[in-house]
Amino acid sequence: MPATPSPPAILLLTTPHTYRAAAFIAAAKQLNIPLITAVDLPPELAATQWPGKLALDYRQPDTAVQTICNFAQTTPLAAILPVDDSGVLIAARAAQVLGLPHNQPQAAAAARDKLVMRQLLQAGDVPTPPFHGFALNDKLAQVTAVVQAHIGFPCVVKPRTLNGSRGVIRANDADELATAVRRVQRLLSAIGADGFLVEGYLPGVEVALEAVLDNGRFHPLALFDKPDPLEGPFFEETIYVTPSRLDGPTQTAVVDMAAQGAQAIGLQTGPVHAELRLNDQGAWIVEVNGRSIGGLCSQTLRFDMGMSLEELLLRQAVGLDVRSLQREQQASGVMMIPIPRPGILRRVEGLAAAQAVPGIDEITITTPEHHRLLPLPEGESYLGFIFASGTTPEVVEEALRVAHGRLHFVIDEEIPLLAR
Ligand SMILES: Nc1ncnc2c1ncn2[C@@H]1O[C@H](COP(=O)(O)OP(=O)(O)OP(=O)(O)O)[C@@H](O)[C@H]1O
Ligand SMILES: [Mg+2]
Repeated sequence: MPATPSPPAILLLTTPHTYRAAAFIAAAKQLNIPLITAVDLPPELAATQWPGKLALDYRQPDTAVQTICNFAQTTPLAAILPVDDSGVLIAARAAQVLGLPHNQPQAAAAARDKLVMRQLLQAGDVPTPPFHGFALNDKLAQVTAVVQAHIGFPCVVKPRTLNGSRGVIRANDADELATAVRRVQRLLSAIGADGFLVEGYLPGVEVALEAVLDNGRFHPLALFDKPDPLEGPFFEETIYVTPSRLDGPTQTAVVDMAAQGAQAIGLQTGPVHAELRLNDQGAWIVEVNGRSIGGLCSQTLRFDMGMSLEELLLRQAVGLDVRSLQREQQASGVMMIPIPRPGILRRVEGLAAAQAVPGIDEITITTPEHHRLLPLPEGESYLGFIFASGTTPEVVEEALRVAHGRLHFVIDEEIPLLAR
């Protein structure tokens, strides 16, 4: 008897440091959908470090797209799903060539580049603060002149292509702007990244919206409040709690604005993660991305029958209708554990006591012991995550704060090489 052909696979585009792959792999197993993981690595390294995985060098997008298309000749694909911004453009281009559901490459480019995003939002008549893009080596005097003439203070300096608030700095006057620009330029040249932009500071509370697009139809999944103030100079994310405590009309305004933003950027299909700020002039988009929520934060979300966000996204990627899926009733939240100071993390004490706080579901420390902790704006990784659930958002927020208060981080100062 001939073997039954296996159904087309989903190709998951990951990076070596992503927190997200495991949840997608588990969801695919649950759904019995073949899933192949591609990883952003030069192929010569991948052969030894990641045997069995498809290696794609995201810095060479043309080659990466070609590699995927060649791969699809022997392994039919149903969809290509990037787990974070870095794979979005390659996914869009390869899916376009292969005739799979995809976002417009311009939408993918916007997800990679905050300047392109602002340009597309503005072109789509979405309310946008004044902004201006700069090359890495633009002179400070030039930046200051443009900011004074067209943007004003307070403003925010931010790299075009980094994530997780890395390099995002608020400046209230010309002196702070000078310091921020020098710091961002130093960071960008050290890591070989592109330029930066400066945009007007949007006052107000911040929320994050998780949604999915199905053939251009915007379907909100969860709205998170961010109850800790994010007023700068750096923007370290801490607590996310859902459902939102905002009133109904305000929540509707957030969803409408995010949908408008997604459309202006050109997103058509798959996950959307949007961040917005609210003030007396309404809802303002900080960012709209064609990917799902970062870090381990998706663990806070469960849908019908305990379905994970990753499972929902895989279902949507293979063409199943997910629009009727609802988030579970109970409140839930996460704290991205702030990095208290730079140094070497020796150990985390109080884990059992923190875990024992009613409502706490899990605490995951993601920085390994004896590794360096680097706070924002230069740092790029989280110390860990605390997860809680409960009857109301208030209960969840309180549980997160109490659990965090019971943790003690033993951090050794790092002695600079020259002082040893
Ligand atoms: N124009 C602005 N006004 C006020 N705050 C801002 C502004 N731009 C950014 N921020 C703050 O900085 C944080 C990080 O900025 P942003 O979301 O643009 O970049 P990112 O978080 O590094 O990117 P990503 O969300 O893709 O990881 C925002 O969540 C917000 O708190
Ligand atoms: Mg952001």
